[in-house]
Amino acid sequence: MRDLKALIKEMTLEEKASLCSGQDFWHTKAVERLGIPQTMVCDGPYGLRKQDQSQDNLGINDAIVAVCFPAASTTSCSFDTELMEEMGTALGKSCQAEDISVLLGPAMNIKRSPLCGRNFEYVSEDPYLSGKMSAGYIKGVQSQNVGTSVKHFAANNQEYKRMSCSSEIDERTLREIYLAGFEIAVKEAKPWSIMASYNKINGTYATENKYLLTDILRDEWGFDGYVVSDWGAVANRVEGIKAGLDLEMPSSNGVTDEQIVEAVKNGALDESDLDKRVEAILNIIFKYTDNRKTEVWDKQKDHELARKIAGESIVLLKNEEDILPLKKGGKYAFIGEFAMKPRFQGGGSSNINTKTVSDALSSAVNYADISYAQGYKTDSIEIDEALLSEAVKKATECDTAVLFVGLPDSFESEGYDREHMELPYNQTVLINKVTSVQPNTVIVLHNGSPVTMPWIDSVKGILELYLGGEAVGEACCDILFGDVNPSGKLAETFPLKLSDTPAYLNFPGDGKKVYYNEGVFVGYRYYDKKETDVLFPFGYGLSYTSFEYKNMKLDKKEINDRDTITVSVDITNTGKMAGKEIVQIYVSDKTNTAMRPVKELKGFTKVSLMPGETKTVSVSLSPRAFEYYNTDLNDWYAATGEYEIMIGKSSREIVLSDTVLRTTDKIIPIYVDGDTTLGELLYHPDETVRSLANELATPMLNTFTAGNDTGCMNEKMIQEQINGNPIHAIKSFAEVSDEYLNSYIDKLNNALGNKTK
Ligand code: BGC
Repeated sequence: MRDLKALIKEMTLEEKASLCSGQDFWHTKAVERLGIPQTMVCDGPYGLRKQDQSQDNLGINDAIVAVCFPAASTTSCSFDTELMEEMGTALGKSCQAEDISVLLGPAMNIKRSPLCGRNFEYVSEDPYLSGKMSAGYIKGVQSQNVGTSVKHFAANNQEYKRMSCSSEIDERTLREIYLAGFEIAVKEAKPWSIMASYNKINGTYATENKYLLTDILRDEWGFDGYVVSDWGAVANRVEGIKAGLDLEMPSSNGVTDEQIVEAVKNGALDESDLDKRVEAILNIIFKYTDNRKTEVWDKQKDHELARKIAGESIVLLKNEEDILPLKKGGKYAFIGEFAMKPRFQGGGSSNINTKTVSDALSSAVNYADISYAQGYKTDSIEIDEALLSEAVKKATECDTAVLFVGLPDSFESEGYDREHMELPYNQTVLINKVTSVQPNTVIVLHNGSPVTMPWIDSVKGILELYLGGEAVGEACCDILFGDVNPSGKLAETFPLKLSDTPAYLNFPGDGKKVYYNEGVFVGYRYYDKKETDVLFPFGYGLSYTSFEYKNMKLDKKEINDRDTITVSVDITNTGKMAGKEIVQIYVSDKTNTAMRPVKELKGFTKVSLMPGETKTVSVSLSPRAFEYYNTDLNDWYAATGEYEIMIGKSSREIVLSDTVLRTTDKIIPIYVDGDTTLGELLYHPDETVRSLANELATPMLNTFTAGNDTGCMNEKMIQEQINGNPIHAIKSFAEVSDEYLNSYIDKLNNALGNKTK
């Protein structure tokens, strides 16, 4: 073990300050005289974007040739944390081969609106799934002694004005939706680094946010790596040092280093704060350099892994009359430019320089008699009549038309949001024309986030590839022709239309602020609560086989707030083909004590079954699975009462459920004053409090019942009137003095163990 504290003592103030910003776009600084080496970082998340030269982070200059795995929009549909670990391990090995100390990923911001241009890089609308899948990725990469930098922390859910806009979020929503995934990733997988996002949160830049970077991340969650700024996210370096931002990237050309030195000298910054930042950076630098591994990067092997991962993730959305899988040896028309030039990755900092992209057209020749028509051009939304009529002709001359459509890069990317959810006009027209002549049509989608499907009833099959990585063509054909049975399920809801979406009225804000007014009701939490029909629900996906769920069991019928509970169920493959099923566990609060989503995903597992085979799967639910963030308690909390545990094939297809009684010892703190309502006290868990409240309410109750000969106030109204009455207002309805009320306030605070203010 190195003695970092001793090393820091040897460093000059200037050396310490300089270590806190990059040498250039991708390197930390070396301090040669003390043997502190330089290390390199690179983007992530789904491949290595290792630049050959500095001063670029927009993917303009050449990066080394690397393997492009499917984007998170695709991989998250696998619901397979072990697969994510496998991908992470492969990435980690390539980092060792290329001398990369920290890979910038996973990107795990919540998909708040389907319009966010960067959703293709993010995992889900659900924090639990985001956290679990990201933890798998992190464990994999870090198993190779290479760090990850989990990004973008936090609440960076749009591209519009991402470098300055303030995400205005209430505490509960922040904790439950926007931080919960990061919390899982940090606690379960211990990432070496976290990337602080560009935006502000409730008015304070993430890079200057002590609450986020120190109080929550370090003190509550136990993070012990370095916090790096997103590239160019530093506004006030000295405030950043105080808040817990360790490394500024890229370089500030010495400007902010000098500001740090100056602040220490003039007393505005405590040198011990700077020392903490330096120690965090050194810790990771040496963690990497002291444990280098010799690796040879086997790109062919990684390509095959990319193919496997895509195959496990692609989602079959529709399969009427079992149009898929296509029979081998049949006659098919592959229509659309994406059949030949697939869109397999997104634009921006995650863009990978790969030379080995497979397309469906060349991959399909081994399977069947395939004709091809381009149909449309991806660089335009205009109809090309010649291409269109050629496509229609080819569609009439085959058994089934397979239409390869989706979003071009110009429609979605890092740096800007989408304006709508439609496919390009020329592609929609192509679908309509082809389906008018060919009843057997299958759609293959290439898109980073959901699109609307006005044509859905005229097609028999829909395969959602998202952005399938460099082996997309092979993976697509594996599924089209049935060599692989689709097993992906959607990690986000496909709404029917944009105006149905939770953030519709508040996205993307006015450029200065964006209000997260939908609160915790994001994704399926919103659609469920509003009982809104959707195109495809969260967790949905078909298979070429079928599964039956039986014998749901809970290992306990009653739990307290420290217990875990295990759910088990028998799953049988009732079809003719081997396949995998994703089993989803949702929890629903039935206590009616707080405004909560109808249900929330709290567990999942993926099981592989041969035809006729049955396996029992079990999933454990931690205490947190039942809890919401209570802002009076400043802690996670679930009221005593009944909770339903549901097993679903999707969020909208619950097949089995059971209930459990959960009790809690936690008491929500309450300080009594004149504004406290009687209702808060009359139902309090403590008996003394309840009885004092009853005494206090009695004079008012007498007034209401005594003068009520005509019955203008019914019993419920009287009760609600009392419940909602603040203590100070009792004297308006009964002859009581302020002294009398104050004496009860004191007695109640006494009973609650509150010290007088
Ligand atoms: C992106 C990050 C990326 C960084 C370095 C930023 O613009 O937001 O995700 O890691 O650039 O390329």
